Amino acid sequence: MADYRKFLPLNDELFDYLQSNTTEPDAVQRSLINRTRELGDSRRMQIAHPQAVFMTFLTRAIGARSAIEIGTFTGYSALAIARGLPADGSLIACDVSEAWTAVAREAWKTAGVADRIELRIGPASQTLGSLAPDVTFDLAFIDADKESYIEYYEALLPRLEAGGLLLADNTLWEGKVTDSSIDDSPTRSIRAFNAHVAADPRTEQVLLSIADGLTLIRQRPDTG
Ligand SMILES: C[S@@+](CC[C@H](N)C(=O)[O-])C[C@H]1O[C@@H](n2cnc3c(N)ncnc32)[C@H](O)[C@@H]1O
Repeated sequence: MADYRKFLPLNDELFDYLQSNTTEPDAVQRSLINRTRELGDSRRMQIAHPQAVFMTFLTRAIGARSAIEIGTFTGYSALAIARGLPADGSLIACDVSEAWTAVAREAWKTAGVADRIELRIGPASQTLGSLAPDVTFDLAFIDADKESYIEYYEALLPRLEAGGLLLADNTLWEGKVTDSSIDDSPTRSIRAFNAHVAADPRTEQVLLSIADGLTLIRQRPDTG
C-alpha cells in the first residue's frame, strides 16, 4: 500500500453538498422514501439515494441484462437496478418479508419496472439453491442477513457472467469493522466476509466508502 493516504472524511455539510450535486430522487423514489420512513427504525435499512444512483449507473454501464438481489425490503435498491436494465432485462429480488415487499411491489408498478422484477419470498439460501444450474447473472447485489454473506457470495460468484459484478452492501458496517471493542455477530460476519473476499484469488475487489460501504467484486479475467 502507498504511504500517501488520500481520502476525505465527510461531515454533514459535505454530505449535503454531495447530495445536492447528485441526481435527485424522482417522484417515485421520494414517495418510496416517505413510505419507508413510516416504518420507523427499520427505514434505516433502505440504501442511501446516492448509492441508488450509483447502482443504476453501474447496471447500465456494464450493460447488465440479468440481475439478482438478496435483501429487497421496500424495494429501493431493486428499483435502482431495474431502472438500469433494458426493458427485456430481469431481476430476481429475494426477501423473507411479504409486508415489506408489498410496499416494493407498489413502487415498482408505479415506476413501470414491475415486469422486469421477479420477487421470490423465502430464505435466500433456499431461493439460490432452487436456481437451475445454468442460470447466470450480470449483476448480483447482497444486502440481507450479514451472517450469510459468505454463503451468498460463494453461491453467486460461479453464476456471474464474464464481466459481471457482485456488489456487497454495508461492508464498513457503521465503522464497527475496525472497532475492536465490538464483537457482535453481524460485525464479526462482515469482518469475516471482507477478509474472505480480500483473500480470494479468483476475484478483484474495491471497497468504496459510499454510504455504509459498498464492495464491488468481479472475477479476475484469467480465472473465468
Ligand atoms: C438491509 S434490508 C435490504 C434493503 C434494500 N436493499 C433496500 O434498498 O431498501 C435487508 C433485507 O433482507 C431481508 N432478509 C433478512 N434475512 C433474509 C434471508 N435469510 N433471506 C432473504 N432475505 C432476508 C430482510 O427481510 C430485509 O428486508
